[in-house]
Amino acid sequence: MGLVAGVWGFKTLAVGVELGLFTRLAGGRTMTVAEAAAEFGFDERPADLLLAASASLGLLVRAGDGYRNSELAEQFLVEGRPYYFGAQVRYSDLRTYLPWHRIGDALRTNRPLTWEPGAQQSMFDTTDPEMLAQFWDAMYSTSSFTARALADAYDFGAHTRLLDVGGGAGAFPIEFCRRLPELRATILDLPHVCERARERVAEAGLTGRVDAVAGDFLADPALPDGHDVILLSMILHDWDEPTNRALLARCHAALPPGGAVVICELLLNDERTGPPEAALMGLNMLVETEGGKNYSRAEYAAWLADAGFVDVRTVWFEAPGANGAVVGRRA
Ligand SMILES: C[S@@+](CC[C@H](N)C(=O)[O-])C[C@H]1O[C@@H](n2cnc3c(N)ncnc32)[C@H](O)[C@@H]1O
Repeated sequence: MGLVAGVWGFKTLAVGVELGLFTRLAGGRTMTVAEAAAEFGFDERPADLLLAASASLGLLVRAGDGYRNSELAEQFLVEGRPYYFGAQVRYSDLRTYLPWHRIGDALRTNRPLTWEPGAQQSMFDTTDPEMLAQFWDAMYSTSSFTARALADAYDFGAHTRLLDVGGGAGAFPIEFCRRLPELRATILDLPHVCERARERVAEAGLTGRVDAVAGDFLADPALPDGHDVILLSMILHDWDEPTNRALLARCHAALPPGGAVVICELLLNDERTGPPEAALMGLNMLVETEGGKNYSRAEYAAWLADAGFVDVRTVWFEAPGANGAVVGRRA
């Protein structure tokens, strides 16, 4: 029954974000059922049910005759907070939730459900302004906290120049450069994404330390050089094994001796039985990509060794977009 109700829990969270419930309650405000009904234009019965369901999920807590945000909602679901997660909730609700209803079609055809392979090269090949806003804001929303967890687990202070391959809107370089005054970073991404990254970098006051360079990491003759660490966050799970092996070889070629590559992902265990976050993200890659899947630590370690990396090791942490990072060094 817990699995059956999973969808109810997600939609309770999603409608709360859509209504701006948690943002309205920012800063400790309490809302009664009557106030919720008046503010949202609902009858009292649905308002009562929504607030109770949100509390049951740990998103609200009881306060006198009303409800207020839980610590979790106050930190992650109030718009404008540094680790705001609501953009991922919105993207999943608007873009992947209904396609997942047709997961059986994806299993039968081995084709994605969120975009049309004949019309686009990949899910990232889009100029649709809504998709641009939704997907890359969702990635930022997920990756800002993942970046914090990765920075606690791996010492980027040992490096001075970061290349974030497929860096999206720049969540990782922004988090790292805020912490490490000596670090400079380059985001490599598709041209339409670089515009979004530059806006985020400017908002963070890091223009000049974080650059966004337009390129194609699959088709360009080489990756930009001059960096001593390369990050691949939620990149390799988008593609098949031959594509990933080729990309790791290009990372190796772009690094100086001693330089490191960091693969940050939701890693499947070596027995391929979990954890659910990684295995379900893998199935989500069937819905959203043509050849992607979540891989295990052992697979990444083997590919890194085959590409010529040494001292391959894994650091573990807990975050929405990753549970660990597999790191290799160019000899
Ligand atoms: C799943 S997102 C990950 C974004 C970011 N690394 C993060 O973890 O938040 C994949 C990123 O790869 C970028 N990308 C996909 N194909 C690319 C290509 N051929 N060249 C450059 N960037 C690409 C996408 O635009 C997108 O920003």
